[in-house]
Amino acid sequence: MTDTIRIFDTTLRDGEQSPGCSMNLEEKLRVAAQLEALGVDIIEAGFAIASEGDFEAVSAVAKQCETAVVASLARAALGDIDRAWAAVRHAKQPRIHTFIATSPLHMRVKLNLTPEATLEAIRTSVSHARNLCADIEWSAEDATRTDPDFLCRAVEIAIAAGASTINLPDTVGYATPETYGAMFRDVIKRVPNADKAVFSTHCHNDLGLAVANTLAAIMGGARQVESTINGIGERAGNAAVEEIAMAIKVRGDIIPFRTNVVSTEITRASRLVSGITGMAVQANKAIVGANAFAHESGIHQDGMIKDAGTYEIMTPDSVGQGATNLVLGKHSGRAAFRQKLDELGYKLSDNEFGDAFKRFKDLADAKKAIWDEDIVALVDDEVLRG
Ligand code: KIV
Ligand code: ZN
Repeated sequence: MTDTIRIFDTTLRDGEQSPGCSMNLEEKLRVAAQLEALGVDIIEAGFAIASEGDFEAVSAVAKQCETAVVASLARAALGDIDRAWAAVRHAKQPRIHTFIATSPLHMRVKLNLTPEATLEAIRTSVSHARNLCADIEWSAEDATRTDPDFLCRAVEIAIAAGASTINLPDTVGYATPETYGAMFRDVIKRVPNADKAVFSTHCHNDLGLAVANTLAAIMGGARQVESTINGIGERAGNAAVEEIAMAIKVRGDIIPFRTNVVSTEITRASRLVSGITGMAVQANKAIVGANAFAHESGIHQDGMIKDAGTYEIMTPDSVGQGATNLVLGKHSGRAAFRQKLDELGYKLSDNEFGDAFKRFKDLADAKKAIWDEDIVALVDDEVLRG
């Protein structure tokens, strides 16, 4: 039996923290509906104390969701936790997600708390949350820059106070796969009551390592993954859920887990979030980019026509992207050009084909993109001149 990795989607909270990505209530409800269709297990709907609008949105998402657990974020302050609970309590499966920073820098500069006072705040906040709600997640903000002994003490206290999910975020995207995986192994081995909690990974992409670090954390013992659609989030973003889900699906040989993600819903989710937030998806973005299944070089196109497995490790259909796209350009060869003519309904003699192909190559040298209309014009001209 393969272990299931729970997907905790934070598009509506950490994703919304991307500059310019804030969403209104109606938009959040549409994204939440698509997240459920995608099969995510937990939806972090917002930060209820942040504003009246966020509170309303978290409550509305909590009321709407049928299958997913709905979480609201809260700092380690009783007022924050009460507000989070007031917003999520309508959910079929509510969760309070409370956090405090544990790194020396954050405790000293941001919180102005001693390490002992921070441990006391963890005890008080988690027990308070647990008295309200059965499902509590606790996060050690900036875990990857926290002293390992102190992190273990903090985690032990959070579990003893009632947290059933322990999140160890790489808040500033500082970790590498080796260090992040090792941190999970170490904490899970050293904390006496670690088996009472599910460990969670939450990676930011400052060094472009968020997805690699997430996979390393899974191999180190994490069984919940926090991520966002299209990887949107603070600064360089969060780990992208579509990349993690497909990495697990495609590389089950070395990442022997499963998720509940319905992969054919991935592109719909990506387009919805990009349309609502106005945050465009780069063309070469893995899985959901416009070029993720496009092939321009002649050698690749020839291989693709013979067997798609030559240059595709998953089908575009499997992620809801439609068909493979053999893009005509200056690197394309005769095979792709002939296939395009077939698609457009042209039957040319060998001579006509040879001339049309030469004229296509000249055009491709002069023009960045070749559209079907260009081919039609070029071939009609060829046939007329014929
Ligand atoms: O990056 C982070 O540390 C967070 C926490 C609040 C979970 O987003
Ligand atoms: Zn974060």
